Amino acid sequence: MIAIGCDHAGVELKKAVIAYLTEKGFEMKDMGTDGEPCDYPNMAETVCGLVTSGECEKGILICGTGIGMSMAANKIKGIRAALCSDAFSTKYTRLHNDANVMCMGARVLGPGLASELAEIFLTTGFEGGRHQRRIDLITALENK
Ligand code: RB5
Repeated sequence: MIAIGCDHAGVELKKAVIAYLTEKGFEMKDMGTDGEPCDYPNMAETVCGLVTSGECEKGILICGTGIGMSMAANKIKGIRAALCSDAFSTKYTRLHNDANVMCMGARVLGPGLASELAEIFLTTGFEGGRHQRRIDLITALENK
């Protein structure tokens, strides 16, 4: 199950991404907003909570730029959120950073690119090895 949420700036892009990923066979848990005004830190908390609890394996957050969502998500223990706007970074944030949440900007990306980036994010595995040590160091920073 993949958790997804947006603020009021991201509603149309979120719908497009859900339609694409559902068609590809992913099960999506849509946490809103469906249009009503929404403060992005609250949505980041909701979606990230589903990831840290294990109810959802990954999360997708969409706001106007993706930046506010990523700032908020990365304050949450256990979350490694990546702001994604190109295929290379999206692939490598899974391979090297084991990112568990992706953030995108609805005022930055079109629906075609955003949907493909989401698919890359959800289908690329973590490489482990030396990268695990660095993830452990991120976790240690979180616990300081
Ligand atoms: C909302 O207008 C906008 O500030 C928000 O969607 C986001 O871009 C913040 O980072």
